[in-house]
Amino acid sequence: MPDISVAIASDHAGYEQKRQIVAWMLLLGVDIHDLGPYDDSSVDYPDYAALVAYEVSEKIADRGVLICGTGIGMAMTANKFSGVRAANVTTPEFAKLAREHNDANVITLSGRFVDLETNKQILKSFFSTPFGKGRHTGRVDKITAIEQDLRETGSTSSFIRKSKPSKGKVSDGI
Ligand code: RB5
Repeated sequence: MPDISVAIASDHAGYEQKRQIVAWMLLLGVDIHDLGPYDDSSVDYPDYAALVAYEVSEKIADRGVLICGTGIGMAMTANKFSGVRAANVTTPEFAKLAREHNDANVITLSGRFVDLETNKQILKSFFSTPFGKGRHTGRVDKITAIEQDLRETGSTSSFIRKSKPSKGKVSDGI
């Protein structure tokens, strides 16, 4: 595992896998911040997604890992934070692509539908794959530009005015 700091959290549905993943990552020597929860009582996933997303957004941690039932609610919440690119991943191949193409800095995992061993393979892939740069850089920069627009103007309209996507028509078969 590379020398990076990782913030991790879950909800009750991801708690057991989070516990095992924290122990595994500690054995691997990863600098890991376990932001909870610390038992399997029912909690609301946005509260824990926010703790990890905040650390990544503020550059307190290099990467984030979030585990809930599906990973979906964690991704939705984390992606509200500036500079966070959270990907909900269920296979090692998608973890690789989320790094190579999207420079994902947070990964969200399913504790109910993906087994622990697969999630470990996903994490290995997520931590060992570099951003591909090249043609992907401008695309990721556009995600950042949308965020910046929203932050500076309270709306995304200037991004829409500036971007010139080819819109296509239903009749083009797009
Ligand atoms: C909890 O039941 C479940 O809704 C949560 O873990 C997660 O899957 C939400 O996206």
